[in-house]
Amino acid sequence: MLKFPQNFLWGAATSAYQVEGDNIHSDWWRWEKKAGKEPSGQACNHYKFYEQDFDHAKNLNHNAHRLSIEWSRIEPKQGEFSEKELQHYKDVILSLKNRGIEPLVTLHHFTNPIWLSEQRGWENKKSVKYFLRYCDLVVRALAPHVRYWITINEPTVFISHAYIFGVWPPQGTSFLRGKNVQNNLIKAHVRAYALIHDIYKELNIPRPSVGFSQFTQAFVPCVNTLKNKLAAKLRNNWFNLGFIQTCAHHHTLDFIGLNYYSRQLVELKQWGVGNFIWDTCQNNHHAVKKNSLGWDIYPEGLLNILLKLKKYNLPVIITENGICTPDDALRWEYIHAHLENIHAAIQQGVPVSGYLYWSLLDNFEWDKGFTPRFGLIDVNYDTYQRTVRASAIKFGQTCKTGILD
Ligand code: FCB
Repeated sequence: MLKFPQNFLWGAATSAYQVEGDNIHSDWWRWEKKAGKEPSGQACNHYKFYEQDFDHAKNLNHNAHRLSIEWSRIEPKQGEFSEKELQHYKDVILSLKNRGIEPLVTLHHFTNPIWLSEQRGWENKKSVKYFLRYCDLVVRALAPHVRYWITINEPTVFISHAYIFGVWPPQGTSFLRGKNVQNNLIKAHVRAYALIHDIYKELNIPRPSVGFSQFTQAFVPCVNTLKNKLAAKLRNNWFNLGFIQTCAHHHTLDFIGLNYYSRQLVELKQWGVGNFIWDTCQNNHHAVKKNSLGWDIYPEGLLNILLKLKKYNLPVIITENGICTPDDALRWEYIHAHLENIHAAIQQGVPVSGYLYWSLLDNFEWDKGFTPRFGLIDVNYDTYQRTVRASAIKFGQTCKTGILD
């Protein structure tokens, strides 16, 4: 029996584009069609059914919920802000608060307004200024009800998928383009951090907690050779810790948001910069259970990463961790094993203060469409009916008691 700290944040995470539906002013909306991908369409219709979804969260004993604001709803045309959509997000947040659920609000979760994408998106240095103007408006409106802000979700994934691997809009395939976006995202985070704190001071509201969510994975050598171990260590420093390190260096983190799903097997095939970054193996003797997208399940990797965060002396919130699978028993096994490792990290002095499962609902998994099922709650995409899974109920018991049996 493992006991978690008092006041631990328990709940689930979502992002606006993946659940709301009809985000017609977003660059993703346009891109899905252009790239011939499964369209997000109505998604989970959460824009309409959020009250009902939060009833489920409440019944499952969640005391926290992570959501994001869709910038393209707030600012559908450059410089034109929608009062109606701002009010919608106020209503959404109040409906969480009314249920005693603490909102954690993400300001940027991969998607951008079309007008921004038409001006070179985040490659344009003005993107920082535009982002801050949007943040200013949203934060001022929601500040009285929100304590936790996440400026940017997974900057390294956004950069790599959208600007280096070419698999997300705008399908860039250049390391230099990625580097340029990285510089702009760092500036955006650093300035948004200061802006949010200034707004709270000005409005005389108690200090908020501001951070960002970092995508992490365990880098595991295929065979324990010196060069594989070296590559794994470097990848951990660059891809898991790099952005955190930079933001901590600028004193712009009140907590570390950590997203963790899986591992990467590292095998250096030659000595070269690219090899250090990319080389992997598919090694069968490492065979482990996988999610439906083929990602290895590797809970012990989370403990190692958490231990590496100890030196920052900052609270850590697991802002995403989850599995897509048709096997709901495996979902609970996954949650259980990751919670065990989180508990071990806490025992070893890492101040983890929350766990938000990805995701509350089955939802639109970007370029993979609706096939992967990550939800604690099943969504029928014909009727939009929700069905609570057994794993959700088991997790709900832990949310209620703070105890993992
Ligand atoms: C993360 C994203 C989230 C979701 C999960 C499966 O990288 O932040 O939106 O797609 O992966």
